[in-house]
Amino acid sequence: MTVINTIRNSARLTLRNIWLRNSLASSNNNSSSLTTNFTRTFSLGLALRQQDVVNITFVRASGEKIKASGKVGDSLLDVVVNSNVDLDGFGACEGTLTCSTCHLIFKTNDYEKLPDKPGDEELDMLDLAYDLTDTSRLGCQINLTKDMDGLEVHVPATINDARAA
Ligand code: FES
Repeated sequence: MTVINTIRNSARLTLRNIWLRNSLASSNNNSSSLTTNFTRTFSLGLALRQQDVVNITFVRASGEKIKASGKVGDSLLDVVVNSNVDLDGFGACEGTLTCSTCHLIFKTNDYEKLPDKPGDEELDMLDLAYDLTDTSRLGCQINLTKDMDGLEVHVPATINDARAA
């Protein structure tokens, strides 16, 4: 009887070792697969994030250039706010089309490539902006596209908060 029990225990130990070894191997494979998946997801996320980044340069009337960046879909007002671009009084109405302080001047080429034309409300507000040009737009109405990467926009020397009139 003792001999039979010893054989049974030995067989159990061997089965347990096999199960443990298989579990470890499987765990190592899963761990490796998890690491690979994490790396792939992280790299993909990083690539997507880099694809979404749009670099913008704001040029003050003095010629000083301020570099900032935003994501596709952000407005130029979002870029100023989120990047803490120091433009005094810019975007006073927070994009509600009531102030015209977000007035920006585009190069003709860039202006013509903007995806949307100004609507009536924007044109009414632009009429109240100082230093108005044929290529003026309100920054809160311009949403970034990937094509705008590298865009330079000029900030007028003076701003007018239409709400103060
Ligand atoms: S932020 Fe006021 S009109 Fe654009």
